Amino acid sequence: MTPIIDGSGFREAVLAGLSARPRRIPCRFLYDTAGVALFERITALDSYPLCRAETALLDRHAADIAARVGAVTTVIEPGAGTMVKTRRLLAALDPVAYVPIDVAGAVLQEAARSLAGEFPRLAIVPMVADFTAGLTLPPGLDRSGPVLVFFPGSTIGNLSPAAARDFLAGCGRLAGAGGWVLVGVDPVRDPRLLHRAYDDPQGVTAAFTRNLLVRANRELGADFALGQFDHRAWWNAREGRMELHLVCTSTQQVTVAGCSFLFRSGDTIHVEDCYKYAPEHFHWLARQAGLSPAATWLDEDGLFSLHLLRPGAAPRLPS
Ligand code: AVI
Repeated sequence: MTPIIDGSGFREAVLAGLSARPRRIPCRFLYDTAGVALFERITALDSYPLCRAETALLDRHAADIAARVGAVTTVIEPGAGTMVKTRRLLAALDPVAYVPIDVAGAVLQEAARSLAGEFPRLAIVPMVADFTAGLTLPPGLDRSGPVLVFFPGSTIGNLSPAAARDFLAGCGRLAGAGGWVLVGVDPVRDPRLLHRAYDDPQGVTAAFTRNLLVRANRELGADFALGQFDHRAWWNAREGRMELHLVCTSTQQVTVAGCSFLFRSGDTIHVEDCYKYAPEHFHWLARQAGLSPAATWLDEDGLFSLHLLRPGAAPRLPS
């Protein structure tokens, strides 16, 4: 269980993101140890039903998924986090090896340790890495049998459509001919419900996005006045995404890693996009990435969908 790659780069990303217009910091930096814990709290909120809906879908259909994919030797999970949902899939597929990949090294190591207790015969090979920077596997991993790349949690929605397409294509290459890609995606819903999901009354999501500034203050010697940045979430209908921003409420000068940045009241730092895909829209995206939709499961409330994809479809050009 030795980390193979260190996936930092926070300083460079914050300095570049605050210098750009619009200001934007990549959402992967929301997930330090405190950010992962806050995200776990979000997933327990009534207003954020996505994880429960996905878990229920996996519970209901894991046997069907296993029957469709047949024998799988290796399961690879980019952005594995606490690996809660993965247990259901691993129990159904019974692979030889599991490769969880995540930037949050401490969380990854802890989750891998607890998983090892539950699956003593499984070879667990954790990788601390930023999967958005490209997918590579630990040297020496046995690739002789079929591979399934598991990407649950609608994390695909946190990538731009072009990045999602490229990422899916990378998953297809990792899975290879004879392999599979299984992706969890949440469809477009009533914007009022989406707003509640991303700006909950308890303020947990606000604490989650503000934690980025807490992290910058701690790790980069920044002096963000936390009380002067509000969390805001809104539905961007044209782009089909929820947008999460930190909005500055009073003009101020902020120092980050020795560099000075002027914020005026109303300036925002764009910290996350959450794209929503209807099943047919996601199939279109998957085909762009050279993946063929093999099966889709959608829950009756339209909260979540699981897509089983096969590498090998010819990419279609946009019409
Ligand atoms: C991790 N990801 C799928 C979450 C989402 O819904 O896009 C991140 C999140 N951000 C705020 N709430 C949840």
